[in-house]
Amino acid sequence: MTVGTMHSESARLRNAMVDLVAADHAAKGLTLRPEVEAALRTVPRELFTPGLSLEQAYANAAVLKKRRGEEAISSVSAPFLIAEMLGQAADALGDLAGCHVLEVGSGGYNASLVRELVGPSGSVTTVDIDSEITDRAIACLAAAGYDDVTVVCADAEHPIASDHRWDLIIVTVGAWDIPPAWRDQLTDGGVLVVPLRMFGITKSYALRRHGDRLVSESHRQCGFVSVQGDGAHEVRYVDIADGVHLRLDEGQQVDPAVLDGLLAQPREEAWVGVSLPPRTALIDLNLWLATHLTHEPGEFVVLTAQETAIEAGVVAPSWQFGTPATLHDGTLAYRSALRWTGRRFDLGAYAHGPEAAAAAGRMVEHMRAWVDAGSPPPVLHVLPARTPDGDLPDGAVLDKRHSRLVLTFTPHEKGTP
Ligand SMILES: C[S@@+](CC[C@H](N)C(=O)[O-])C[C@H]1O[C@@H](n2cnc3c(N)ncnc32)[C@H](O)[C@@H]1O
Repeated sequence: MTVGTMHSESARLRNAMVDLVAADHAAKGLTLRPEVEAALRTVPRELFTPGLSLEQAYANAAVLKKRRGEEAISSVSAPFLIAEMLGQAADALGDLAGCHVLEVGSGGYNASLVRELVGPSGSVTTVDIDSEITDRAIACLAAAGYDDVTVVCADAEHPIASDHRWDLIIVTVGAWDIPPAWRDQLTDGGVLVVPLRMFGITKSYALRRHGDRLVSESHRQCGFVSVQGDGAHEVRYVDIADGVHLRLDEGQQVDPAVLDGLLAQPREEAWVGVSLPPRTALIDLNLWLATHLTHEPGEFVVLTAQETAIEAGVVAPSWQFGTPATLHDGTLAYRSALRWTGRRFDLGAYAHGPEAAAAAGRMVEHMRAWVDAGSPPPVLHVLPARTPDGDLPDGAVLDKRHSRLVLTFTPHEKGTP
């Protein structure tokens, strides 16, 4: 291939990838902002995925860069996800032109997109804990002509520069908590976009700073490699059958003896009794379930399953990569796959164990309450760990190392959209 044909092939594949990103946004009811689309059509992604073919570089998927053992620790994020997060940032800030941006987690690709978006009067700094990644990012950015991005090697849990304030901090690694440095390095009114795991469920939140607190303005479904360094958090998987696992958060304990053979016990099921149309947004149901089920006796856990276990009929979860589940007195209940009747579906729960029927029924009650409340989305408030109970907004409280996280669901008034 000549240099000329390589360029045109790169542009063709890049445009095809962006068309997929736009279609993916539309399918989710989102709009791909024109400036984000323009940046995606400009930055040559293949220069940040050396060693891969052009087809692989433009596959609209994450590209693995580094593993430690079984675990992925660095990747070039998937274009559709980056586009959603940049869209969250631009929706919150109005226009990114002229903004000063800190990116946590380097690679170069996202930093180049941000460089396009902020224009000549803005600035981009990117920080990564791993010098192999920052070295590679510096080389890739230079090859792509983005040599005005500042690349720093440090643990972003801590402040990068004590006196600097950014308009936007965009975190491209999965966090479990919000370290004070991320809030304190923002201008007041500035925005933090961060994939944050709560109750085992990760979402990308756009949070605006209001003094010492952050309040979310949007959230999106997402998945990321986990943060390393001082903010690292433990995730453990417990096998409950071949290809079926419970994902446990830090500090959670379950008795493996209770789980042995549990899924082989007879299955009980319960259904909400609704008939919902195909594109009904269910993205907020899992967090609603998590916040409500954690108030009940037993453990709230997340069930994951491999395709083979689903095909073999061992489990039928709502989502193989993370389904809300409860474990109480030897009974496991989880949100089931949708039950379709023609072009409409119902929501349900399956359970195994001595109290299976009651546990499935309880889970379904909470789902019915969410539907009856008008399927409200959550608003996340992030407050400093020292905040007294009396100063917290109403909602479900989750205490982390540095912050008190409060999720508020406001039911829609009857008759409002
Ligand atoms: C998904 S990758 C970043 C992708 C990148 N933004 C891009 O444009 O392709 C996540 C990165 O976060 C980095 N990381 C993990 N923990 C970190 C920490 N505490 N501080 C800074 N970087 C961290 C990892 O080394 C990894 O390279």
